[in-house]
Amino acid sequence: MEIIIQPDSQQGSQVAARIVARLVREKPHAVIGFATGNTPLRLYKNLVRMHREEALDFSHVTTFNLDEYVGVPAAHPSSFHSYMWAHLFSQLDIPNGQIHIPDGMTADIPATCRKYEEAIKSAGGIDVQILGIGTNGHLGFNEPTSSFASRTRIKTLTEQTRLDAAAAFGGQENVPSQVITMGLGTILDSRMCLLLAFGKKKARAIALTVEGSLTASVPSTVLQLHPRAVLVLDKDAASDLKMADYYTWVYDHKPDWQKS
Ligand code: F6R
Repeated sequence: MEIIIQPDSQQGSQVAARIVARLVREKPHAVIGFATGNTPLRLYKNLVRMHREEALDFSHVTTFNLDEYVGVPAAHPSSFHSYMWAHLFSQLDIPNGQIHIPDGMTADIPATCRKYEEAIKSAGGIDVQILGIGTNGHLGFNEPTSSFASRTRIKTLTEQTRLDAAAAFGGQENVPSQVITMGLGTILDSRMCLLLAFGKKKARAIALTVEGSLTASVPSTVLQLHPRAVLVLDKDAASDLKMADYYTWVYDHKPDWQKS
């Protein structure tokens, strides 16, 4: 794991944007996995700015989102479809046919999940998967006890996750209980996992992810098995890490060719 600790979410998001931009410049046909939630919003703002001001070209990029609520139409204001169009896709040049988000309204969830996995495979696999993290260590909506080998499937949200999403739906009672999410096995297949975490409320989950024992009770610990997991944190999210000084030293002393 590479742990990058930045003073705040703004600088962390800039580092993450540079990593994504470098990939897109080096590999115009890159496949990018996107996440929703509060955490990647500044990253997406940076990507939009780079597209406008630095001619960062997304026209050949293919995308796969991590998850979507079951029973929520794409046009619903709290769907992840709406989120992605509001914050990113409406402002980039990715053709619609290259954008993939699970269909929460499908009549056949197993078939939809199977096809999603096949689409990722036929696109050549995900080059970089952007991730946030739940306070309980979920990645995508792989709640605690999700199998490390899981693939795209239906999952039931924990009460905590529904509480976290309450504001978006005008109350916890309106938050759907089920979602379609890429599995931990799907995420692990990505060539790079780029996890962002900002704020004190993520500190415990981050400490368990980086320095805790591998356990399905903290799904994000699966990243310990990934050969290229990069975690971009602000100081607050990093505040429970015992080896924070070491991670900072490593990052500050990277050779130039390794810097992003
Ligand atoms: C979003 C997702 C979730 C979020 C996580 C953190 O697509 O899959 O795992 O990344 O719940 O959410 P925020 O960023 O809102 O704290």
